[in-house]
Parts: sequence; C-alpha cells; structure tokens
Amino acid sequence: MATGKTFSEGKGTKKVYTLNTGDKMPGVGLGTWQSKPNEVREAVKNALQMGYRHIDTALAYGNEAEVGQGIIDSGVPRSEIWVTTKLDNPWHKRVTEGIASSLKDLKLDYVDLYLMHWPSSTRPDDLKKHYDDWNFVDTWREMQKLLQTGQVRNIGVSNFDQENLEKLLAAESTTVVPAVNQVELHPNHPSPKLIAFNQSKGIHSTAYSCLGSTDSPLYKDPTLLDMAKAKGKTPQQLMLMWGLQRETSVIPKSVTKSRIEANYQLDGWELTQEEMDKLSNLKDRFKVCGDGWLPVKVFFGNDE
Ligand SMILES: NC(=O)c1ccc[n+]([C@@H]2O[C@H](COP(=O)([O-])OP(=O)(O)OC[C@H]3O[C@@H](n4cnc5c(N)ncnc54)[C@H](OP(=O)(O)O)[C@@H]3O)[C@@H](O)[C@H]2O)c1
Repeated sequence: MATGKTFSEGKGTKKVYTLNTGDKMPGVGLGTWQSKPNEVREAVKNALQMGYRHIDTALAYGNEAEVGQGIIDSGVPRSEIWVTTKLDNPWHKRVTEGIASSLKDLKLDYVDLYLMHWPSSTRPDDLKKHYDDWNFVDTWREMQKLLQTGQVRNIGVSNFDQENLEKLLAAESTTVVPAVNQVELHPNHPSPKLIAFNQSKGIHSTAYSCLGSTDSPLYKDPTLLDMAKAKGKTPQQLMLMWGLQRETSVIPKSVTKSRIEANYQLDGWELTQEEMDKLSNLKDRFKVCGDGWLPVKVFFGNDE
C-alpha cells in the first residue's frame, strides 16, 4: 500500500496541509456540530465571507441542508471551499446511500473529504447493537470504491485510536490509507502519541472539539487565561494557534458572528516553544466525546 506523506505550508489562517493524496486542505475550518439548522446557514455564510475556506459537517448533525444553503449564500465559488462530511454509524452497510443523502442535502456534486464518523457499524433497527456480520473494515472497503465515482475526493476516518487504525491498515481489503483521522484534540486532551502514530502512517490529524466544546472547562483554566492576557489574545485564539503549531488542522465551531471572526484572527503572531509546552502540560485532563453511547468500545485509553 503506497503511503504518501502529509506536510504543511504557511502559517495562521494561511496554513494548508497537503494530504497523502496530494490534495491541499485549509488548516482552519468552521465546525458545525450542535449548530442548529436555523443558525448554521448564517454561520457558514459569515465564515466563508470572512475568509474561512473549510467547513466541517456530518450527516449525523442533521444540518447539511442548511450548511449547503450557507455555502450558496456566501457567493464563494465551490472550487475554493473544502467541505468535509461524515458517514453516520447506522449507515455503514449503506455507504452509497449515505454519500448520496449528504450530497443531495449539501446541494453539492462532490465533497472534498468523506470520513467514517465512528468505527462502529451500528444496526439501524437497534442503535444499541452492532452488526454481527460487518465492521469498520467492511465499511472502509466500500468507502474506497467511492473514490472512483467522483463523489468524494478524499476519504478518511474519525475517532480511530491506534488499535483500530492498525486493524484497518492490516486488513487485506484496505488499499487506501486514510487521508485524515479526525479526533478530539485540545490542551486537556493532547494525545501526542496518536498524532505521532497518524503522522508515521501518512495520516493527517484534524482536531475536533479544539476549544474543549460546549461549556468548555478550558475557558476557566487559570494558566490559559493568564497566558492569553499576557499575549493580548483570546484563550480560543491561543488554543487554535497551539493546534496549528502541532501540525493539526482545527475546526472551531461557533454560530456567533463575532466569535467566528475572532477565531480567524490567527495571522502575524505565533506561540513560542515555551508557550506551546505550557499549553501541552496543563494539569487537567478531560475528554468531551466518550464511547459509552456506542454498541462497541472504540477508545482504549492508550492514545496519550
Ligand atoms: N468527528 C467527530 O466525532 C466530532 C466530534 C465533535 C466535534 N466534531 C467537529 O469539530 C467541531 C468543533 O468541536 P465542538 O463543536 O465540539 O466544539 P469547539 O469548537 O471546541 O467549541 C464550540 C463551543 O465554543 C464556543 N465558542 C467558539 N468560539 C468561541 C469564542 N471565541 N469565545 C467563546 N466561546 C466560543 C461555541 O459557542 P457558540 O457557537 O455559541 O458561539 C461553542 O459552545 C464540531 O462542530 C464538529 O464539526 C467532530
């Protein structure tokens, strides 16, 4: 299996990651989980008009139609925008239907990146059960076929620990190395080992919940708050810069115009090595997304 390299160019909002396919993904995107349909259209339009060129959504978020409308409203040409969406767990046996549903709602001919949202092939008739005769390796085999259809430019995974990635890469049917592994990464869950493992396989890491998600405890972290004050930046800007300087892409979610704008003010400054180390070593540790709601365990606690 040929493994291309992933590398970056540029800084701040100009940072672009070249994936193992050669495609270039903008380093800063707008997240849309929990962005309500009546808010996300405006948020996407505002973000694109402010300069964002990367939008992250998912079938499971129930807002792809409004995200698609926001893209149209922005007036930014489709060719300039990177759109990521994800295959939902109960759709693992219906990959062609999953992508067709997303494209129809997004009102797009293709997505730049299609991710397997979770390594859980959940039964649609009972969300507490996993299929007996199907797992994420089978799903990936089917996702690989989408590359020939023109509907997806890149495929990747999300919420894969090293253990599941090794299983995927070792499978006989796996001929394509995921371009991206989108995982939870913020200063209270930095996972340097997993990032290094991804990189060693030519897989780019995208940081989700990069601000610590809704009601983030990080917004009260005294070390982060003191550093932000001293630097004349917001705590969110510091976390995003920390993510970029660790060679991960960041996809902060906001439906608030002023915050969408502030989160994109990442040019003309950076963090020193000492500041990077300080943020990587905050004393608290927490994880926003667990696996207790899934029919299978997907986090094995060895990604630190
Ligand atoms: N692959 C996966 O399984 C997975 C899981 C989780 C997330 N994701 C992706 O990653 C994206 C980001 O993660 P997330 O949504 O969990 O959380 P996040 O981006 O870490 O944080 C979002 C929260 O921070 C607030 N916020 C944003 N900018 C702010 C600022 N400058 N000042 C103060 N508050 C600010 C937002 O509020 P307002 O919106 O009210 O402004 C929202 O409550 C998601 O939207 C989704 O696209 C993927």
